[in-house]
Amino acid sequence: MTAPELALTTRFQDAFAAAFGEEYRTADPIIRPGKFSDFQCNAAMGLAKKLGAKPRDLAQQILEKVQLDDIAETPEIAGPGFLNITLKTEWVASQAAGLHGDDRLGVGSPEKAETIVIDYSAPNVAKEMHVGHLRTTVVGDALARVLEFEGHTVVRQNHIGDWGTPFGMLIEHLLEVGEDSEEAKLLETDPNAFYQAARAKFDADTEQTDFAKRARARVATLQSGDEATLAMWTKLVGLSKQYFHRIYDMLDVTLTDEDLAGESTYNDALAGVCDDLEQAGIARVSDGALCVFPAGFTGRDDQPLPLIIRKSDGGYGYATTDFAAIRHRVGDLHADRIAYVVGSSQELHFQMVFTTAREAGWLPESVDAEHVKIGSVLGEDGKILRTRSGSSLRLMALLEEGVVKARSVIDELRPDLPEEERAKIARQIGIGSIKYADLSTAHDSDYVFDLDRMLALQGNTAPYLQYAVARIRSIQRKAADQGISAEQVEAAAPRVIDDPERTLALQLLQFAPTVAEVGAQYVPHKLAAYLFDLAQAFMSFYEKSPILKDASEDVRLGRLALAKLTERTLVAGLDLLGVQAPAQM
Ligand code: ARG
Repeated sequence: MTAPELALTTRFQDAFAAAFGEEYRTADPIIRPGKFSDFQCNAAMGLAKKLGAKPRDLAQQILEKVQLDDIAETPEIAGPGFLNITLKTEWVASQAAGLHGDDRLGVGSPEKAETIVIDYSAPNVAKEMHVGHLRTTVVGDALARVLEFEGHTVVRQNHIGDWGTPFGMLIEHLLEVGEDSEEAKLLETDPNAFYQAARAKFDADTEQTDFAKRARARVATLQSGDEATLAMWTKLVGLSKQYFHRIYDMLDVTLTDEDLAGESTYNDALAGVCDDLEQAGIARVSDGALCVFPAGFTGRDDQPLPLIIRKSDGGYGYATTDFAAIRHRVGDLHADRIAYVVGSSQELHFQMVFTTAREAGWLPESVDAEHVKIGSVLGEDGKILRTRSGSSLRLMALLEEGVVKARSVIDELRPDLPEEERAKIARQIGIGSIKYADLSTAHDSDYVFDLDRMLALQGNTAPYLQYAVARIRSIQRKAADQGISAEQVEAAAPRVIDDPERTLALQLLQFAPTVAEVGAQYVPHKLAAYLFDLAQAFMSFYEKSPILKDASEDVRLGRLALAKLTERTLVAGLDLLGVQAPAQM
């Protein structure tokens, strides 16, 4: 609900209670944006049946009781019984003034602060982070920022793939090339190349090399806890972590080493998970493997669909780790909510895991678990983005290309700025554009990776929003040159009198309700859409209403205050999305 809708709802519910009796207090006033006024209350039509009266008469009765004096003009009855509501411009102004003096821009503290575990990013060790991980990283980080800002306790969990059969071949390869070799260094710069080399050896295995056999044996030694093998594994994981952190730094993502909780951290719990499920009669052995068959999942021929938790060779699966993780998140981390920001392709996996975990009592009904499904990044051909040779694209290479292209944008806009400053801005625009393009798309839709579109100065892009902020900042600098201090602007009330001012102010009131919706529904693209609308409202205000050219000091200060509030709201919103706003553009 919008901010005015919220205020109007309370007043109308009071009126229902007064006009029709206390039991009508909870009736929905059905407040909607109106065609001929700011809002409409459409409740009379619905109430007519229940009360056995004509909607127009009911509208009249509501009108007599509703107390809107401070918020709106006297509503007008229209058509069959609509109540048209026009907000008082003074009310909008007073609300805007409230925001101007509020660090949190209207975002209060939550009724109940929750502990929210967010499982995101989760790349796989010794493999390149591919573009798919860009989305799980960027969307998860935005959600973490939003929920934290709202006042919840966010626990970031980076469930990296750092265990399993590939480590046998990776360790054997590392042993062959040597820890200090050039090949080993690839782990920090181009882990996929390292992985591919190990894989090639594995696939080209002959009786002479016996590589595959050694790799398999190495998996067993690793699992048995052999110290020398574990040391090699630690080395591999350590180098990969450095690689992830280079990407996280470049992306300005809040994940740190503290947030790492990879698959390997659950090793000791896996046997217990299997035993408990077996003892509870939820898991049973089928074709040598221990499986669960969660209710409601069937495969071909309507046969119950198995989720394997212990393979016939004794190894544990991906799902087993997820059960251990749920027990940890609910039992030790005390999660009220868990959000899994993971590719859409894993939908079935999570449904089966959640259903089983509920059955086992590890995920009580009081704890909400949601798979925030992430769509694919596509190439211009509409297929999953890949390099020409067909391998998955290096994320680092894409980010670097984004910064290079952004550099030409800023070089053209501001050739006058010093080299160093342009380099900094190029990074903010380049990285911001890639992140924003991702965040402005619904998380479960696919999108085409198109740097030129992402970097456009027009449309719903990061540069458009960043430019709006830069515009306001440049106005502020000019104001300072004219002797108007920041303190004066802070002390002034935002001017909300003319139409463009009113439209902009109404948009500013929407920040807090938008943040609430994004946090409750895990939809960062709604924050992006809001910021785009806000920037557009500012641009049209700015075109129609001179800020510094107006002769009267009062008007100048009032418009500067409105611009300041807009700047703070845009910057705060971009920050929640993890996008930086350059000082100038
Ligand atoms: N590492 C996995 C992948 O790249 C994602 C892990 C997601 N999190 C989880 N708890 N399963 O596909």
